[in-house]
Amino acid sequence: MLDKKVVELLNQQINKEFYSAYLYLDFSSFYKDKGLDGFANWYQVQAQEERDHAMLFYQYLHNNNVRPVLEAVDKPSVPMENLKDPLEAGLRHEEYVTGLIHNIYAAAQEVRDFRTTQFLDWFVKEQGEEETNANDLITKMELFGSDPKSLYMLDNELKARVYAAPSLVL
Ligand code: FEO
Repeated sequence: MLDKKVVELLNQQINKEFYSAYLYLDFSSFYKDKGLDGFANWYQVQAQEERDHAMLFYQYLHNNNVRPVLEAVDKPSVPMENLKDPLEAGLRHEEYVTGLIHNIYAAAQEVRDFRTTQFLDWFVKEQGEEETNANDLITKMELFGSDPKSLYMLDNELKARVYAAPSLVL
């Protein structure tokens, strides 16, 4: 049986991951509106991945005989004016999510819930990759964003990202 605090944090994480999906869909929409279909694609795929993350927490609770409680998802409210705004907000958001995952991990460790820490190991690694990706996008935008031709090529590169189901299966 899972510890009450651990359940509460795992349940909250479902909402946080759905919020991430919503946030990245909003970023995708911003870039679509600007005519940057590659950036829009990149964030649309990211939104799909976030929905998968939410479903992994959802499934994990069910697998442990806990019925998840689904709460309202906040409205994304990141102000976006220039092309770098979503990228920087994306990195800040991923750093925040990393902190949340670490909090759940610490709570599980405190009660010697090794099943949950093992489940979270995948997310710890995933967060490392997500922060790297978010940083890379900022670097590329800083390098190429001010030249229209380079921006066009970068946008084309980001069109190539395709959705892949998560490697973690529960
Ligand atoms: Fe589900 Fe981007 O962290």
